[in-house]
Amino acid sequence: MPFTIAIDGPAAAGKGTVSKAVAAHFGFAHLDTGLLYRAVGAKVLDGAEPVAAAHALLAADLENDALRTPEVAQAASKVAVIPEVRAALVDFQRAFARRAGGAVLDGRDIGTVICPEAEAKLFVTASAEVRAERRYKELASKGIETSFQEVLAEVVARDERDMNRAEAPLKPAADAVMIDTSDLGIDEAVAAAISAVETKRNPA
Ligand code: CDP
Repeated sequence: MPFTIAIDGPAAAGKGTVSKAVAAHFGFAHLDTGLLYRAVGAKVLDGAEPVAAAHALLAADLENDALRTPEVAQAASKVAVIPEVRAALVDFQRAFARRAGGAVLDGRDIGTVICPEAEAKLFVTASAEVRAERRYKELASKGIETSFQEVLAEVVARDERDMNRAEAPLKPAADAVMIDTSDLGIDEAVAAAISAVETKRNPA
């Protein structure tokens, strides 16, 4: 039986951490859809044409640590405004979402566009400062040199682009459960997400 958990939210909100933990808890497969856009963005930085790069994407392209840099994140959000790029990535995401055995997808438009029929939808957010602080620490731990101010500017610029694009803009689905993680630790955020999904799995 398919059971889709859609987890959307702005840049560096902790969707990745929450999604992995939720997927492990329920024994579901997990897809970080941001990696698809990052992989296309990385190819464009290497000189490819965005729509052709999206059509030619391979699973192996997603397994690349270099996709986590702020430069690739910006390139991802630039290619993500192109409707033909988004269209090229839809079928793969929909098939993943409806696979037997359950799936967790995290991104920007999972509950609104990719899988509006998802059984559980979460919108994970936090203040821009908290998100930038978390991303800054993550990048620093990987040895990527940057400053908090640079990371904050990067996160804010990406949110603006993601929220204001015409195609599949970042916004909560009408029936999404909102989880603000500004004042939550990882365990608390994960517990809040699991409890929101449990409510949908076993409605009272
Ligand atoms: O990890 P972080 O939240 O910083 O970003 P990400 O989820 O890896 O997404 C990178 C960029 O891809 C976003 O800023 C969006 O522009 C784009 N994206 C999208 O448009 N739709 C998705 N479902 C996922 C990502």
